[in-house]
Amino acid sequence: MKVGIDLLHFATANYYLGLDTFAAEKNIDVDKFYVGIGQEKMSIASPDEDIVSLAAKAAAPILQKINSSEISAVLFATESGVDQSKSAGVFLHGLLNLSNRCRVVEFKQACYAGAAALQMATALVKANPKEKILVIAADVAKYDLETSGEATQGCGAVAMLVTESPRILEIEPGSGYYTDDVMDFWRPNSRTTALVDGKYSTKVYLNSLKQVWEHFTESTGKSFTDIDYFCYHIPFTKMAEKAHQTLVRKAGVKLTQAQFEAQTLPGQLYNRIIGNSYSASLFISFISLLDNLTSNIENKRVSFFSYGSGCVAEFFTGVMQPGYQSVLMTEKHKAQIDKRTPLTYIQYLEFHQQMGASDENIVLNINNYGPYRLAGIKDHKRYYEKMDN
Ligand code: HMG
Repeated sequence: MKVGIDLLHFATANYYLGLDTFAAEKNIDVDKFYVGIGQEKMSIASPDEDIVSLAAKAAAPILQKINSSEISAVLFATESGVDQSKSAGVFLHGLLNLSNRCRVVEFKQACYAGAAALQMATALVKANPKEKILVIAADVAKYDLETSGEATQGCGAVAMLVTESPRILEIEPGSGYYTDDVMDFWRPNSRTTALVDGKYSTKVYLNSLKQVWEHFTESTGKSFTDIDYFCYHIPFTKMAEKAHQTLVRKAGVKLTQAQFEAQTLPGQLYNRIIGNSYSASLFISFISLLDNLTSNIENKRVSFFSYGSGCVAEFFTGVMQPGYQSVLMTEKHKAQIDKRTPLTYIQYLEFHQQMGASDENIVLNINNYGPYRLAGIKDHKRYYEKMDN
């Protein structure tokens, strides 16, 4: 039985900060960002946007294409949780009017949680082919102002429907995984911004890649040349480039520059203009690959490297299904990115200050274009609304 991704769609915020604006304000050469870390823009969430509104915006077009009462579970991966107890997925369940005959749970392990949720969903469907599982990976990447991480913010949500006989990608059995208790990036409960040991985090990321590759090749018997396209967790696109260089060296293969770029570049284009979206970032890379390739990649194998600081990593593969192009939502993705509004530096500061704010009573101004938004907080309870557009 084949199990995997039947439909997928992503959402990002309606605003972005150009790294040219950022560089001019800080008097830094813009090439440090365009070339040095390979980023051009970062999506910035307005105060009335959070992981729940982003997740609803990501999932709604999928639900329009299926009988949504058949969703048997929502697995919501995030490290930007809105409540210490209630799962973000339960807010989402209400907002999307899903069936009460559904289980909902939140997954956390930094950026790795999305891959964990996808693997768990695949296992649930294998155990019972009637299951139709909505996997969400949604995050707002936020660092303190004037820190090394500030240029690597962003946000996004990916919704994936996991079923048997999937129309887009069959997830293959077998993977390589790795855990090590390290402090490269973390966010204590009292903080809305992450703390990071930036340079160390890039080393741990690359070491984890080598470890999961060894485990993957041992456990599956597959080698580098069995894989056609490589998607990586992308905190910034230069990291994916370094990851691919590391893997090529580790696997002992020789590639021309054109082959190297063909395997990875299309999967970086959206991430370059969205920024980091933590648990969603690997899957935005996959969508970027599918939306930006000019050729048909039916039956080709795609690999996924998920890295979550702290740290847990996994390397797994999937095979593109015949006819997958007919169910992609490329136009919707492109339109969403194109419609974003650029922020001035001052507007960015205002949003940054309020983003993920406390749970004090507040009625939020409408900045989010919808279709879903956080309307306000009253008596420590969050209120979401569906807008008319
Ligand atoms: P930094 O100190 O701002 O930058 O930190 P830098 O001085 O190291 O410069 C970056 C690169 O730009 C360097 O190249 C420079 O040479 C180059 P490299 O040595 O890396 O090849 N450069 C230039 N190039 C061209 N023209 C110029 C120029 N100037 C400099 N004029 C850092 C960079 C990534 C550390 C910082 O942005 C950061 O701390 N980011 C947050 C942490 C992060 O993203 N880590 C990635 C791995 S961990 C991960 O992916 C997990 C994560 O997503 C969280 C999770 O799991 O939940 C973060």
